[in-house]
Amino acid sequence: MSQSLRIEERDTHVLATLDRPEKRNAIDQELVDALHELCATLESEPRTLVLTGAGGTFAAGADIAQLRERRADDARAGINTRCFARIRSLPMPVIAVVDGYALGGGAELAYAADIRIGTPSLKIGNPETGLGIIAAAGATWRLREIVGEPLAAEILLTGRVLGADEALAAGLVTRVLEPDEARDEAARIAARIAALDPAATQATKRALLAPRDAHPAIDLEEQAVLFESPEKMRRMTAFLERKKK
Ligand code: COA
Repeated sequence: MSQSLRIEERDTHVLATLDRPEKRNAIDQELVDALHELCATLESEPRTLVLTGAGGTFAAGADIAQLRERRADDARAGINTRCFARIRSLPMPVIAVVDGYALGGGAELAYAADIRIGTPSLKIGNPETGLGIIAAAGATWRLREIVGEPLAAEILLTGRVLGADEALAAGLVTRVLEPDEARDEAARIAARIAALDPAATQATKRALLAPRDAHPAIDLEEQAVLFESPEKMRRMTAFLERKKK
């Protein structure tokens, strides 16, 4: 397992911490490989994932020292793009605690989460065009889905970095808490999710991620499976009989 991705098993979730603070958690190939390894585990044993960064930073981007050496074939291989898409498609929810800098690829990793919690020191944005590249690991479609086209265009075309208040107002994070409190809140959210039916949670996530034209067929198919599940029967019966106890 990589030194730069710390993984801790908790009762209700897996906590993964980008831990390369001396490089502001810049995402290099080693981190990408470690994230793929983590995804493989979470695909075979679905758990909620809480992602965060060490040292008061989420991630200051893809590793620019490695990016500078990459050429056209590396771009086409979509090294970060495929990794973040895999995180986005994990069966159970992904919660990002976004503390401090979340820039470039670091911001795109945060955009891959289902739920984002910020901290007062949050600085999130995409300065890629200033480095002569585009934000190709999710920002051009995912940021637009999250905040809408007008603000996404401004962020991507100007490189303007948002602070916590603005990110909260735009819905880019859904709450802003001090770092320890933000991590506790992520754990509370994971605990709340753990009390729900995992099959229903995973079906909801698949429907949420499906393209527009897949609806409502996908919703009806997912529901058809759940309507036959013993867990649905058990949960609904427990509700209907709760007053008889
Ligand atoms: N890639 C590679 N190395 C990075 C990095 C990145 N994205 N971001 C930071 N680092 C490295 C720095 O080169 C420095 O390394 P060194 O100590 O060997 O010189 C170390 O991390 C600390 O960075 P530093 O800039 O001194 O820290 P800071 O606290 O003054 O500033 C930032 C923090 C995030 C504002 C600044 O590091 C920065 O602008 N990073 C690049 C952001 C960016 O453009 N990201 C988009 C990439 S797609």
